[in-house]
Order: sequence, then C-alpha cells, then structure tokens
Amino acid sequence: MERRILFLGLILFTAAAIAETDNNTSRQPLWSTAAEESDLLPPGDSDGGFSSMDSMLHWAISHSDPEKLNESAQAQERLSPSELLKRQLEIKEIMEKTKVLSDAELMKISISDLNNVSTSLEDRYRALHELLELVELLDNANDLNKLGGLSAVTQELNHYDSGIRAFAAWVLGKASQNNPTFQQQVLELGVLSRLMIMVKSDSIEEGIKALYAVSALTRNNLASQELFYAEAGGLMLQDILRNATIDIKLRRKAVLLLTDLAEYQLENVDKDEPPFFSDQDLLKSVVDLTASTDLDLQEKALVAIKSLLQLRTTEARVFRDFCALGDALNRMKQLLHDLMADDDQRDYAMDVEDVRIEVEHIFHKKLVKQ
Ligand SMILES: *[C@@H]1O[C@H](CO)[C@@H](O)[C@H](O)[C@H]1NC(C)=O
Ligand SMILES: *[C@@H]1O[C@H](CO)[C@@H](O)[C@H](O)[C@H]1NC(C)=O
Ligand SMILES: *[C@@H]1O[C@H](CO)[C@@H](O)[C@H](O)[C@H]1NC(C)=O
Ligand SMILES: *[C@@H]1O[C@H](CO)[C@@H](O)[C@H](O)[C@H]1NC(C)=O
Ligand SMILES: *[C@@H]1O[C@H](CO)[C@@H](O)[C@H](O)[C@H]1NC(C)=O
Repeated sequence: MERRILFLGLILFTAAAIAETDNNTSRQPLWSTAAEESDLLPPGDSDGGFSSMDSMLHWAISHSDPEKLNESAQAQERLSPSELLKRQLEIKEIMEKTKVLSDAELMKISISDLNNVSTSLEDRYRALHELLELVELLDNANDLNKLGGLSAVTQELNHYDSGIRAFAAWVLGKASQNNPTFQQQVLELGVLSRLMIMVKSDSIEEGIKALYAVSALTRNNLASQELFYAEAGGLMLQDILRNATIDIKLRRKAVLLLTDLAEYQLENVDKDEPPFFSDQDLLKSVVDLTASTDLDLQEKALVAIKSLLQLRTTEARVFRDFCALGDALNRMKQLLHDLMADDDQRDYAMDVEDVRIEVEHIFHKKLVKQ
C-alpha cells in the first residue's frame, strides 16, 4: 500500500538525516537491510497506520541495527547543542511533511480520483483497491457514504471496463458485510437490481463479484431480500444452478446464497416464506447438483438441501418423487465411502458423510410428518 512505501521512505530519509551527522557513515543506511518486506510492515492495525509518532519511532528503533544506531548516537553526542537542535527540527519537519495520512484522508483521495474523468484506468483500479482495503473496517465503511464514496463507487458499476465494474461491486459487497447501515444506504440507491444484471455478465469475474455483492447485501436484511425476490432473484438463482456450463465458482456462490436465504427464514419463523422456496424446479435443480463432478459444489448443495428441508413450505413428497432425493443421497453415500478409502480424502469425506446422514434423518422425519 502506498502508505507503507511512504512510511519506509520516511524511515530511510530520517535515518539518512541522522547518519549525516557522521561523515563516515553518511551514505550507509542505518536500518537492517536484511529485513524482509513483511518484517518492515508496521505493527498494530492491518492498514499500516501508527497511532502516534512515538509508536512509529519506537517501532523504527526496534527494527534498526543496534550497532549502527549506537555509532550514530555517539556521533550525535559529538554535535554541539545548537547543531543537535537544528537536526531535531529538521527531522521533525520531515516527519510532518510525510506524516501518515488518516484513513478518511486516503478515502477522500481515492474518491476524488474516481470522480475525476481524467483518471487513467490504472489509477482507477488503484483507487478502488485502496477503498476495498479501507472499507474492511466498519468505521471506514460507514464513512464512505458521508465522504461521497458510495455514489462514486456506484457510478463505476457503469464503467465501460468490466474489470472496473467488477472491482466496484467488490467494494460495495465488502462494505456491506455485516453492516446494516451500509446495506440500507446501498438499497436506497437502487443498486441491487444493477448488481443482479451484472451477475449475468459475459465476464466471469464481473458475475462473481456482482453475486458476492448481492449476497452481502441480502444477508440478514429483510428489505434487501424482498427486493431481491421482487426483481426475480429466485429465477436468477435457478438459472445459475441448473446450467452446468456456467462457471463453477459462480454456481458455488449461488448455492451459498440460496442456503443463506433459507437460513434466514429458519431463524425468522415469524416471517412468511417466499413461494420461491417451494418451487419444485428450484428444489430439483439443487438436488441435481449432488451429482456434479465438483465435490465442493456437491457438499454445498447438500448443506442447502438440509436448510430447504426444514422450511415449513417445502414438501417432503416433492423431494422424494419429483427430485428423487432418496436416490441422490444413496449415490452420494456410495461416492463418499469410495473416497474414504483414499487417505488424502478420508477426513473430508467423513465430514461430508456426517452432513449427508443428517440430511437423511431430516428427510425421513419430514416424510413421516407430512
Ligand atoms: C564532515 O565533513 C565536512 C567536509 O568534508 C566537514 O566540514 C564537517 O565538519 C564534517 N562533519 C563531521 C561531523 O565530521
Ligand atoms: C572517519 O573514518 C576515519 C577512518 O576510517 C577515522 O579516522 C575518522 O575518525 C572517522 N571520522 C568520524 C567523524 O567518525
Ligand atoms: C555502544 O557503544 C558504547 C561505546 O563504544 C559501548 O560501551 C556500548 O556497549 C555499545 N552499546 C551497544 C548496544 O552496542
Ligand atoms: C484529474 O486528473 C488529472 C490527470 O491525472 C489531473 O491532472 C487533474 O489535476 C485532476 N483533477 C482534479 C480536480 O483532481
Ligand atoms: C447457460 O449459460 C450459458 C452461459 O454460460 C448461456 O449461454 C446459455 O444460454 C445458458 N443455457 C440455458 C439453458 O439457460
């Protein structure tokens, strides 16, 4: 990140300023050059800021070469008090000029870059990337709209470059995670339907990031879910689930979203279940995924079936007769037992088998009850 580069520059600059006091070491860096980049990353918060100048200096000193620092300290001692004061003022000035920018300041820079039509594609990516990292913190996500960032990022959803559109969706998705305030702000901008169109993009990356954002926006958010269903989100999911030519990552994400939506209903039993869940074609497309050649997709489908079976409005006989869930579970049982013979796969296969057995129980209980 830029701040880190700025920061490292500052350290080296300061070091050189101190070293200058000693003619013989003036061209040598004081700081251990053997340190890896990762060692050089500052401690504390993940985005490289320091809470105070003191903590920065403390970190800098703890990462320096003690012998050279010692030499330098002795050189400092040889300076007259007025020289020393002058030197200290110079260092202070350097630090102030290059001071670590606050997150809000960084967001403002990125936002103004996005709003500037002259910003190059490369700089636009960089600005979105910066925002992506920043909005991971809840406070920053909440500041994004205040700083005008939400509309700036939303505008990018219409950019001619599909990579930029994907990145913008990613930022919106990340900021929406576990953040009802942000979810609400995005909802008010009417962005959900735009994202749902993007899911169908020819660009796989754009589709995946858009579906990621749709999932983040609807998670635990009734208003977003209602809009999702109203905008034929159910049909969109179904189209992805039953089309084997669609990218596997997109299909996995679609199953996860379906599970999330079903789980929400299970946790909020007072809410009506949307008719979408009892659609037999939808249920069949999920059960059919257990025959996929992708084991991960099979497992995710199994977890989705577990939630769907527990909904009030799904019917056991639809699962049995129309979806042939019994056969699907038997087929999976066989496959998992075969996998258990393989040392590398045994643990995973046993975990999936546990879920499969659970699904079988729920299924049989539902059959007896209905
Ligand atoms: C460094 O060298 C310059 C001339 O080369 C000299 O004027 C100055 O006094 C020296 N400084 C120290 C700290 O030795
Ligand atoms: C610089 O190095 C020379 C020999 O390498 C030494 O004689 C001299 O004292 C050193 N000067 C300083 C200011 O350390
Ligand atoms: C620093 O230098 C002084 C004088 O040469 C020496 O006594 C002291 O042990 C040194 N300290 C370190 C940490 O190298
Ligand atoms: C917009 O970007 C161009 C090119 O990077 C730059 O020269 C110009 O100063 C920017 N304008 C504003 C208002 O930041
Ligand atoms: C399946 O998806 C592909 C794009 O990956 C699309 O071209 C095709 O029309 C879809 N098939 C159906 C039956 O929807």
